[in-house]
Amino acid sequence: MTIADKDKTGAPAAPLHVAIVMDGNGRWAKRRGLPRHLGHPKGVEAIRRVVEAAPDYGVRWLTLYAFSTENWRRPAGEVAEVMRLLKLYVNSDLDKLVREGVKVRILGRREGLPPDIAEIVARAEAKTAHNDRFFLQVAFNYGGRADLVDAARALAAEVKAGRLSPEEIDDQALERRLSTGGLPAPDLVIRTSGEQRLSNFLLWESAYSEFVFLDVLWPDFTPTHLGEAIAEFHKRERRYGGAVADDVLAAG
Ligand code: IPE
Ligand code: IPE
Ligand code: MG
Repeated sequence: MTIADKDKTGAPAAPLHVAIVMDGNGRWAKRRGLPRHLGHPKGVEAIRRVVEAAPDYGVRWLTLYAFSTENWRRPAGEVAEVMRLLKLYVNSDLDKLVREGVKVRILGRREGLPPDIAEIVARAEAKTAHNDRFFLQVAFNYGGRADLVDAARALAAEVKAGRLSPEEIDDQALERRLSTGGLPAPDLVIRTSGEQRLSNFLLWESAYSEFVFLDVLWPDFTPTHLGEAIAEFHKRERRYGGAVADDVLAAG
């Protein structure tokens, strides 16, 4: 059986690409009377659990929203803690990811990252570049708008250089220049913490994704929650703007 044939319940057609807005670390800490930043290490534990379990649920691509272009507005101490944790995660887990066939890709702007973070990001990608069993994307210094702006700039530069004509700009041309270029669109977008918004995540890519909002804070997220979100996904009917399958049959 290949990874994507069946999900944990034995049902076929798992959402192959699951993207998660990992939200609620601060509230998790606050509810325990702890400073906000102490929620983030607990969030990393939840990341480990979900990366480990996702293939068992038939997921082949997992994209995690870890730090947005807007999150630089957080207090400096909290930003430093998130940077520290990314480094710690890569340093402690990279060998395991390499062994397990996980290909790591960081989505988002490289410029603006502190040099040590840029280095660790490059190392994680280089060391896992040849893996193809499971695809882990970490959106870090990522914003959907910034990504679209960068793609538009890249297209404009190519037009200016005479390598591309404006007529050649279509969905595929733009898509290829996003930091998600080459990835399938997310089938399922999950957001934890009860908030029901996208917060600048995968604006283009989620055009026809199914959304599941869970009332669990990210540090409390377990593989069971992933299973619940996938079960909800299976109840949905995806139409992509077309007709409902039964109506097409009825219309002959
Ligand atoms: C998500 O948790 C993690 C990051 C954005 C880095 P938050 O830190 O946003 O937690 P809440 O939403 O304040 O509870
Ligand atoms: C989105 O969460 C970003 C990440 C999970 C990394 P935020 O907590 O930053 O979003 P808002 O501010 O609630 O919209
Ligand atoms: Mg939040």
